[in-house]
Formats: sequence, structure tokens, C-alpha cells
Amino acid sequence: MIITDFYKKKMNGEKITFITCYDYTSARILSDTEVDGLLVGDTLAMTMYGYKDTLSATIDLMCWNTQAVSRGAHNKFILGDMPFLSYRKSLSHSVSAVQKIMQAGAHAIKLEGAHGNIKLVRHLVESGIPVMGHIGLTPQSVCAMGGYKVQGKTKESANQIKEEAYALQEAGCFSIVLECVPRDLAKEITTSLSIPTIGIGAGSGTDGQVLVFQDLLGLTVGLKPKFVKTYLNGGELIQSSVNTYVQEVKSGDYPSYEYSYDN
Ligand code: KIV
Repeated sequence: MIITDFYKKKMNGEKITFITCYDYTSARILSDTEVDGLLVGDTLAMTMYGYKDTLSATIDLMCWNTQAVSRGAHNKFILGDMPFLSYRKSLSHSVSAVQKIMQAGAHAIKLEGAHGNIKLVRHLVESGIPVMGHIGLTPQSVCAMGGYKVQGKTKESANQIKEEAYALQEAGCFSIVLECVPRDLAKEITTSLSIPTIGIGAGSGTDGQVLVFQDLLGLTVGLKPKFVKTYLNGGELIQSSVNTYVQEVKSGDYPSYEYSYDN
């Protein structure tokens, strides 16, 4: 997948698939799957580092993880997330932050919100950086939104999200994430844009989907949002494998002859 494939896929009605990825081992595994792209999302603050939200992600953290993913998956389109406030201080500070993420191995960057970011998006696009927008539920604004809630349920808020989508397209974004919005709204936006939309909690009418690795594989502990489908009981499989290992060590069954060296 390269940047121009996004447009082709939308034109051909072919769905685009993304999954988050934060580390080398997972990237190696995912590099041999059919998924189109890997998002080094700022959700890593929660999934990998145990914070309660994404506000603790920093540029350094994002760069370390983007580098690891890039080393593990040379063949995949890698999308780097801009962390909390890293693109809200000044144009020059924002461009330096983007430069770090791109130099860490991302092929494009994603940033949350539209209003207030339009000038920056234009500048980045003019500088040769592919930018993905992210609207609807924008987790970096969790404090302002009063929690993780479905957005665009009222006519006014739906209109605002539509306006944001058009503004981001007009500013040059190559794609937009629609997070936690009603499926009809997501479909309407998708149909009216020429750039592809990637949904998460936005129904099936978007041009593609993204899911968090740990959610998809059943590795998430705690609350599971309604839109998450778990394709593997990863947590249970890991626990039972580790328990089997512990039992075999205790019983002396491991390491058996075949797992030890001759003289
Ligand atoms: O950081 C992330 O994982 C994301 C997805 C939820 C879209 O932005």
C-alpha cells in the first residue's frame, strides 16, 4: 500500500484496513498479514504503558515505537499519530514534531481535530507530508468532551462534523478517521468526500476500518466499547500457555531431553 492506493481503493470500492501496532514483534507478525496499514497510535499510552488516556503520549514515546514498528514491517504503510498538543504550540514546533515522526519511519501522520489545524495541515501538505485527519470522538479532547461519547448525535453536532470533514479535505488531507459517530452520518460524509474515510465505531459505510491491536486480539483488560469485535481470546490463550509452562517446570516435564544440549 502506498499513498496513491488510498484514492484507488476508494474509487474501486475496495475497503482499506488498518490496525494499530506499537512494537517490533507485533510488526513482524503483522507484516505477513493482508492488513493495508499499521497505525502507531497514541493509544499506545494506554495499551502499552497503562495510562488512563492518551494525554500522556509524548513525541519521544511515539518516535521510539514508530521506529520499532518500522524495523518490523518494511512492507507496510505506517501511519504515525501526532500526540497530545505536539501540533498546537506553534507552526515551527509542530513541523519539528512532524519531522521527528516521519524520520522515525512513518509514511504519513495523523492529527486530531479540524478547526485550528487547517493552516498546519495546508503547510504540511505543501511540504510533502501526507496528513490524515481524525474527527468525531477525538480522544485527546476527552476532558473537553466530558468522556468517551458518541459524537454527532444532534443535528448541530452532525453538521459540525460534516463541516470539519470538508475543511480537512479542502486543506489537503489524503484521508480522515471518523471515530464513534452514528453510522448514517459516517456514510453520508463518506459519500460526499472524494478522499477515503477510515471508521472506528462508525459503522460499515466508511471506506475502511481501523481497530486497536489489543482489542481485536482479546488482549485488552477492562471495558470493551460496543464497536469492538474480538477475533481471538488472546488473553486467555496467553494465560493458559503460561500456566502450562509453569506446571511443566514444576513437574520437571520441561525442559525435557529434546530441549537440552548434548555434551
Ligand atoms: O491512537 C489510535 O489508536 C487511534 C485510533 C483509535 C484511530 O487514533
